Amino acid sequence: MKKLLVTGATGQIGAELSPVLRSLYGAENVIAAANHPPPSGEFPASGPFYRLDVRDADSLERIVAEHRCDTIIHLAALLSAVAEDRPQEAWDINMNGLLNVLEVARKHRCAVFFPSSIGAFGPGTPANDTPQDTLQRPTTIYGITKVSGELLCDYYYRHFGVDTRGLRYPGLISSQVLPGGGSTDYAVEIFYAALTRRHYDCFLSAETQLDMMYMPDAIGAAIKLMTTDPSQLRHRNAFNVTAMSFTPAELAAEIRKHIPEFTIAYAIDPVRQAIASSWPRHMNDSAARAEWDWRPRFDLAAMVQDMLEKIAAKLQNG
Ligand code: SER
Repeated sequence: MKKLLVTGATGQIGAELSPVLRSLYGAENVIAAANHPPPSGEFPASGPFYRLDVRDADSLERIVAEHRCDTIIHLAALLSAVAEDRPQEAWDINMNGLLNVLEVARKHRCAVFFPSSIGAFGPGTPANDTPQDTLQRPTTIYGITKVSGELLCDYYYRHFGVDTRGLRYPGLISSQVLPGGGSTDYAVEIFYAALTRRHYDCFLSAETQLDMMYMPDAIGAAIKLMTTDPSQLRHRNAFNVTAMSFTPAELAAEIRKHIPEFTIAYAIDPVRQAIASSWPRHMNDSAARAEWDWRPRFDLAAMVQDMLEKIAAKLQNG
C-alpha cells in the first residue's frame, strides 16, 4: 500500500479511516473520493479529494490512472435500513460500484479492500458462535449485495489474481461520525440522547443481541488485514470480526454506570427490528485471529467510557 484511493471517504468508516491512512502513508498518497459533500474541518482538505459516484466507471478509472493507485479501499455503499427502503438503488450502488472497482483494480493491478457485514448472514445461519464458513442466505437487499460482493471479490482473486480482502464488520460505533441508515445505529444515537436528554427511545427491542465494534478497532482491523503477508490468508472475502456483543438493555445498563439517571424505553421500528433479528448474535472470529492476528482493544466497558468522554467534549465545544 503506497498510493491509495478511498471511495465513500466521507461516510461512516471513510471519514475516520481516511485521516488515519493519511497520517500513515502521507496526505498526498491517500486520494479521498465520495459522492457526498465533504464535512468541514481538516479532512478531506488535508489532501486530494474528488466528487465521485462509484457507478461512473470512467471517472473512477481516470482517478486511479492519474494517481497510479495501487490499492482501492472501497467503502461507498448504502447501509441496511436505507437499502431496504430503496432496494433497486442499493443493488446499483453496492453491486455495480463494486464491479467497477474490481474492473479498475484488474486493469491497473490494484489491491482491493471490501467491507462485508453481519448482514451477509440470514435467519438460517447459526446465530451464536456463527462460524466463518457457514450458511449465508440473507433476506435483506443489503445482505444480498454483501454476500454477492464477497463472492465477486473471491472470483476476481481466483480468476484474475486481484488481491481482494474483506471483513464482515459488526455494528460500528463511532464518536466522530453518525452512521446514517443502518440497523445498528441505535448504539451510536443512545450516547447523544444519554448526554443531552438522559433518555433514549430505542428502535430495537431490549433483548436484540448483536455483535458490535468500536471504530478505532474497525480501522485497525482494515489496516492490519491489508498489510498482512498474503501467503498467511486462507479466507480473503471475508473474515468474521467482532469485539463485543450486547443488547440495548445491556448497553443502557453500562451507560447507567456513568449516568445513573439515564432511562431507556422501546419504540420498535418493525423494519429495522426485522433486519436485526435476521442477523447473528455473536460471530466466531477465530479465523481472523489465527490468520492475521486480529485482536480488538475495546470491550463494552472501555467503549462506553471513551464514547461518553468524547461525545461530551464534542457537545461542549458546540
Ligand atoms: N451497521 C450496518 C447496518 O446496520 C451493518 O453492516 O447496516
